[in-house]
Amino acid sequence: MNQHSETEAPVALIVVSHHRSDSLTAAVAERTAARVAAAGYRIDLLDLHAEGFDPRGGVADEPEYGNHDKRYSDEVHRHIARVHAADLVIPVFPIWWFGLPALLKGWFDRVWNYNLAYGSQSRPAMEGKRMLWLALAGLTADDENADLITALLEGTLRRGISEYCGIPDTHTAALYDSEAGDLTGEARDRHYRDLFAQADNAVDKLLAG
Ligand SMILES: Cc1cc2nc3c(=O)[nH]c(=O)nc-3n(C[C@H](O)[C@H](O)[C@H](O)COP(=O)(O)O)c2cc1C
Repeated sequence: MNQHSETEAPVALIVVSHHRSDSLTAAVAERTAARVAAAGYRIDLLDLHAEGFDPRGGVADEPEYGNHDKRYSDEVHRHIARVHAADLVIPVFPIWWFGLPALLKGWFDRVWNYNLAYGSQSRPAMEGKRMLWLALAGLTADDENADLITALLEGTLRRGISEYCGIPDTHTAALYDSEAGDLTGEARDRHYRDLFAQADNAVDKLLAG
């Protein structure tokens, strides 16, 4: 049973970036939401594709360094309000070309903007938040290019985004061999059970603080 009433409950923003609602990414996000909700969090599930988020940047969302009163587009302010309201931020996404899908990259480019996510004069905007980057990778963990996935998670995402924005308590997890191309039957089922267990484990570590 939840320890908090609906209004007092801490909030987890789960950001899903996939165009298919029946994708493995969506299934991992749904399972993550259920697990975090069971720990007493109110879930804000942000499905960027389903909500029609526009990843294209425009003049309205260019940062103006030094201008702490800059008003960005309404869409950006609506989205950053959801980030500011969250205690946990959990992006769930497939790795594409050793990076974020353009939709999710555009969300960070536009929404995690100057004075909204970093560079604010007063209290750091992201203070006290915690993050888990939950990535699905087609490669196997022993692939010779798997180091590029570690570089993405630990370099670009943890250091380049989370820590830069003042979120030192950041976790990362990669679910490898997400397509399980070589597996069939029971071996395939076992592989996917194991991937879900890995996702659960990453969520539990985040929740343990
Ligand atoms: C455009 C594209 C680029 C991809 N690039 C990578 C990559 O750089 N590294 C990797 O491990 N997997 C890569 N993959 C495989 C995806 O990560 C994999 O298809 C996904 O994790 C499967 O989850 P889904 O069924 O939810 O899409 C790529 C897939 C696509 C479609």
